[in-house]
Amino acid sequence: MQFTFPTDDQDLTALRVDLCAVLVFDGECQESPLVRALDQALSGLLSSMLEEEQFSGKKSQCLTVHTHGKLGTSRILLLGAGKRKDFQWSDVRFMTARAIRTANASRGRSVAIVFPDLAKEWRDAASRLGQFMAEGALLGAYQFDRYRTGDRKRPNTVAQVALVPWLPGEKAPPPPDSDSVVRLPCAASRPSFERGATRGVEVARGVMMARDLVNEGASEMTPTRLAAIAEQIGRDQGLSVEILGPDECSELGMGLYLAVARGSDEEPRFLHLTYTPKDRAPRRRVVIIGKSVTFDSGGLSIKTSEGMMDMKMDMGGGAAVLGTASVLQRLDCPDEVHILCAATENMPSGSAYKLGDVLRSMNGKTVEITNTDAEGRLTLVDAVTYAINKIKPDEIIDLATLTGACTVALGPHIAGVMSNDQGMAKRVLDAASDAGEDMWQLPLPDRLMDMLKSEIADLKNCGERMGGCLTAGLFVKEFVGDTSWVHIDMAGPVQATKEWGHQAKGATGFGVSTLVELLVPRAN
Ligand code: BES
Ligand code: MN
Ligand code: ZN
Repeated sequence: MQFTFPTDDQDLTALRVDLCAVLVFDGECQESPLVRALDQALSGLLSSMLEEEQFSGKKSQCLTVHTHGKLGTSRILLLGAGKRKDFQWSDVRFMTARAIRTANASRGRSVAIVFPDLAKEWRDAASRLGQFMAEGALLGAYQFDRYRTGDRKRPNTVAQVALVPWLPGEKAPPPPDSDSVVRLPCAASRPSFERGATRGVEVARGVMMARDLVNEGASEMTPTRLAAIAEQIGRDQGLSVEILGPDECSELGMGLYLAVARGSDEEPRFLHLTYTPKDRAPRRRVVIIGKSVTFDSGGLSIKTSEGMMDMKMDMGGGAAVLGTASVLQRLDCPDEVHILCAATENMPSGSAYKLGDVLRSMNGKTVEITNTDAEGRLTLVDAVTYAINKIKPDEIIDLATLTGACTVALGPHIAGVMSNDQGMAKRVLDAASDAGEDMWQLPLPDRLMDMLKSEIADLKNCGERMGGCLTAGLFVKEFVGDTSWVHIDMAGPVQATKEWGHQAKGATGFGVSTLVELLVPRAN
């Protein structure tokens, strides 16, 4: 997909494309100079259709009009953007994706997407607009279609996307409160807009890589395969990569992680990728850990068939950190970033770890197993200890599809955020909000530590049903010590059960956008 940026003085009505998507805010349709210009060229057809269909620009309203050669574009798509005051940055991505899908549905090859002007209180307006438009276009076109054949394979057709962030040549009468509205000054903001779009392309690449990894079946996407992908990322992007097998992990004393791996015929692989900024001292040293259970059957505490259905996505955290790893170089990230994945399957077998086993973690703490399906936290904490002992980071972030309880608490689209450092938690939540990913902070109540008390070991690996998401967080917290740490439980948002804006059905690539926002400051 190629992006173009029409110049300020270009006449939009002459733009030669298969589809021209125009976003209109609720109630602003009449005043839009562009809508007026399009209507004039169509001899009033547009305004009568608007009237007939009662199109006012309400959120998700849409209207398609064929132009029969009267305009450069073959079709116009008016997309309602809802009330201007309710508009959010992530809506840009959502709407752009819808425009691309509409174009694809009718085999369109070229699309222009026109956004109305945005209020000036929107920080870094031009750059963000560029970023989200590019993300929306690429992610809206994403499909996991490698296993579709024949007619079921409908490759995307859109190859050219013109991103038009303002109304070129518009000489609108100054609105009554002209202070609260600002026209993006085309020429001045263009470099910033294009820089944003470049950033968006990279974010989308990372997201799509994460989606591909999650969508692939577990018999393909094994720990060994993840290791090969990490090596590939390292080669392509100049990251150093260290892969540890079971013997090396055993030498390090990773007793919890290896216990989870024991029941499987697939060997575990511990991945450690390192990105170092070129030619300058790193801003800070960050470790990002992604839960990488490539298939979670539950082990001997086996899941039901239904509960096991989606468990190929239990490496969604790993996919997010690898997707992020794959774009850090091109985004010129100023931090030293270490990416860790303790990849393993969780399977029942004669060699599987058992209920009642007491295991020793890498930092020496012992854990009594009361449920082999609470495996994620076991893999995470050995990775945490590895990070603290070997890397000595300023901060640790883990992303994990850790508990079904988190989706009970927050629903299927919002990730739970837990932390031992409120300042860092706030930075992560702000990054998520800027990235348009939904996260919500949850507490780590000391009082629930009772649920993790064991008679014969330092800890049990599983608490009770109530507060299951919090006890999982508390378990990990026992291993992080004084290091600043944020835990993101993304069991819900890792996948979508239906298409939604820029998200296809299936893997969402959740986490990548937030990590990029956190690790790569927006140069403006
Ligand atoms: N991978 C699951 C969590 C999960 C469940 C993710 C549903 C996405 C959808 C995790 O390993 C798990 O099995 N958690 C248990 C914890 C319980 C045994 C304390 C759960 O959520 O039921
Ligand atoms: Mn499990
Ligand atoms: Zn799991």
